[in-house]
Amino acid sequence: MKRLNWGMIGGGEGSQIGPAHRLGAQADGNFILAAGALDHDATKGRAYAQRLGVATDRAYGDWREMLEGERNRDDKVDLVTVATPNSTHFEITKAFLEAGFNVLCEKPMTMTVQEGEEIVKVAKATGKICAVNYCYSAYPMVREMRQMVRTGQLGKVRLIVTNFSHGHHGDATDADNPRVRWRYDPAMAGVSGQFADCGIHALHMASFIAGDEVRTLSADFASTIASRELEDDAMVNFRMEGGAVGRLWTSSVAIGRQHGFDIQVFGETGGVRWRSEDPNQIFYTPVGARTQIIEKGENGLSDEAQRLSRVAIAHPEGFPLAVANIYVDLAASIRGETRDGLPTAADGLRSMAAVHQAVASAKSGGAWVDARPPMFR
Ligand code: NAI
Repeated sequence: MKRLNWGMIGGGEGSQIGPAHRLGAQADGNFILAAGALDHDATKGRAYAQRLGVATDRAYGDWREMLEGERNRDDKVDLVTVATPNSTHFEITKAFLEAGFNVLCEKPMTMTVQEGEEIVKVAKATGKICAVNYCYSAYPMVREMRQMVRTGQLGKVRLIVTNFSHGHHGDATDADNPRVRWRYDPAMAGVSGQFADCGIHALHMASFIAGDEVRTLSADFASTIASRELEDDAMVNFRMEGGAVGRLWTSSVAIGRQHGFDIQVFGETGGVRWRSEDPNQIFYTPVGARTQIIEKGENGLSDEAQRLSRVAIAHPEGFPLAVANIYVDLAASIRGETRDGLPTAADGLRSMAAVHQAVASAKSGGAWVDARPPMFR
């Protein structure tokens, strides 16, 4: 099958998420890195792209140059990944969609709800794919959990409990480190710190597995390190359209927790749990019976979990492979196939609305507010 041309903006040398995208996009031979504007420093970005094998004339100094350089080429990129810092996502994603490119945007998709609505509208009007990198939803055993809900194995979902809490910003003496400080500075991060950074992965995951959307929420935000303007800890209670109750804790000051993303879904006839630090297993407990450990790669899993399992049973499945699963479905979608489960601009918008409404709720003492974006109410 012909390889698709892929372009990347951001994700330069030393960036956190850049390597996961490069492994993910190229793991299956679907995409080849054909163009890039990889760094905020034009010279460094051009040099690094060339070291990664990009032709000199497609190793761009910035994203506007890349847009102009690519738009009229016969072999222009089939997909652009936006892996720059948050405040730039809207402008870049919108410009590439309007110029007729498919886009995979990092989370959070935008800084405001209005920008999120704009992206949803532009993607619809242009007919281009706008996906958002909620990559945890592409782990095989997360797909298995979603399938368990879909097939009624848990009964009606009553309760979802999820955490995304780590302790890597818990050292007050390191709070002024520039790599940490911007995340709690409204000028750089927007209206929310930890909830917009990690909490939205957990909120998306709750909707993804339950097959339902968040309707209302009530938030309690805290800046446990006093110099921080934005929250470094949040507890968000939510209610879903179908009535399920949700509890979400996200923190960056939970010293001792390394990554700490887990989710438990409790239905009328059973409960199931997944942890990102042990992504190969889910723990399933039917009502009145013993807990079973269901392993990635074993017989009897759903087709969706089997399709996304890349390594043999009992071998570890890594984070870049979840990102690779996003690219597998993007390639299939660009080639005209329908793939269920690709997180889209609508998911990115829902997250932004939840972030802004959580901020409003936290400021009003935890009042329950409508979590949905106006265009989806
Ligand atoms: P980072 O600060 O480590 O790297 C950012 C990269 O973008 C750098 O190479 C920088 O030079 C480049 N850059 C900045 N402005 C640019 C511009 N205007 N044009 C081209 N390149 C530019 O940041 P990190 O942690 O890699 O985060 C990037 C994005 O990925 C953020 O939106 C973050 O929220 C998201 N992210 C998502 C994760 C996920 O699980 N889906 C995990 C980690 C980050």
